Amino acid sequence: MKDLDWLTQWVNKQEKFPECLRPQDLKRCREQRLSFLRSGQKLTVVGQETSFLAWDTSAIEQDTQTPIALLWGRHGALNCLEQLLCDSDQKLAGRPLVVSAFVHQTAWMELLQSQGFYALRHFVTKDMRPQSVDPAYLLRPGKESDRATLSALALSVCVHTLPPHQESELGRYRRSLLQTLLKLDYGPKSEYELLIAEDKQGESLGYLLLRCDAHKTAAVVDIGVDKSHWGEGVAQFLVLSAENHLIERGFEFYVGEISAANRRSFYVATEICGFSPNRQLWRRDP
Ligand SMILES: CC(C)(COP(=O)(O)OP(=O)(O)OC[C@H]1O[C@@H](n2cnc3c(N)ncnc32)[C@H](O)[C@@H]1OP(=O)(O)O)[C@@H](O)C(=O)NCCC(=O)NCCS
Repeated sequence: MKDLDWLTQWVNKQEKFPECLRPQDLKRCREQRLSFLRSGQKLTVVGQETSFLAWDTSAIEQDTQTPIALLWGRHGALNCLEQLLCDSDQKLAGRPLVVSAFVHQTAWMELLQSQGFYALRHFVTKDMRPQSVDPAYLLRPGKESDRATLSALALSVCVHTLPPHQESELGRYRRSLLQTLLKLDYGPKSEYELLIAEDKQGESLGYLLLRCDAHKTAAVVDIGVDKSHWGEGVAQFLVLSAENHLIERGFEFYVGEISAANRRSFYVATEICGFSPNRQLWRRDP
């Protein structure tokens, strides 16, 4: 109960949360944090109100569906945090610890690196704007009959999307991806939307999977281009023509997540499609 009081105070004072990508989302993110605390879900806390680390052990690693400890909050000077990170080891019970850093938090990232963390994933964002796109390609909605082609294409390129240092997990990653794709609902009432890029002959060249929320934000969940068409501007076409289509439907904000090992995708997102890095996830393996 005592922990709950000062964690609640901490949430009420915070001006930023890692999941809050726009200032206008702060109030909603704060409410979600408070309702998490009120729900009785358990956080593990190291330290106390003057300096603490708190993490959520109900979190799941999205690529491999394995349990992780996801940092929920931190407070205190960086030198206290160094000690707290050491103390956290006993309570982590063998789980990897995953923490967020905004791109401007260089001292925090240096500390993480010195404590054995490595960059896991980039978050990129942008405000949507009308885009001109290559007329050589066509964008069409995905249909149920695309599911087999989509799954085969996603599996053929997924080795490039693995998180860093997870090469040995490729089998598990592929199984988890296939399960997700086979049951994914991208019908008209789903929050997911599948878009396919075709050439003029009707050949499918790549796909873009979006998750659209009620707050005018669309997230790129996955993108894949047939390897024989890499470097021909298909990914650029998919992302930018989807942006036009989303603007027409009233969307304003575009977000994406990219494995820190996936330099090609990061380049396409930031140098070609106009996204900016917003924050990173860092991970320390047990
Ligand atoms: C990432 C991916 C979608 C890009 O698709 P693509 O159709 O080849 O991308 P585009 O042709 O639109 O853009 C590629 C451009 O990036 C350039 N490029 C790629 N990697 C680069 C790098 N590391 N440094 C510099 N330039 C790079 C290419 O030369 C090309 O540039 P240009 O158009 O200026 O000549 C594709 O490689 C893919 O399917 N990868 C596997 C799945 C994946 O990684 N998905 C992303 C999940 S977040």
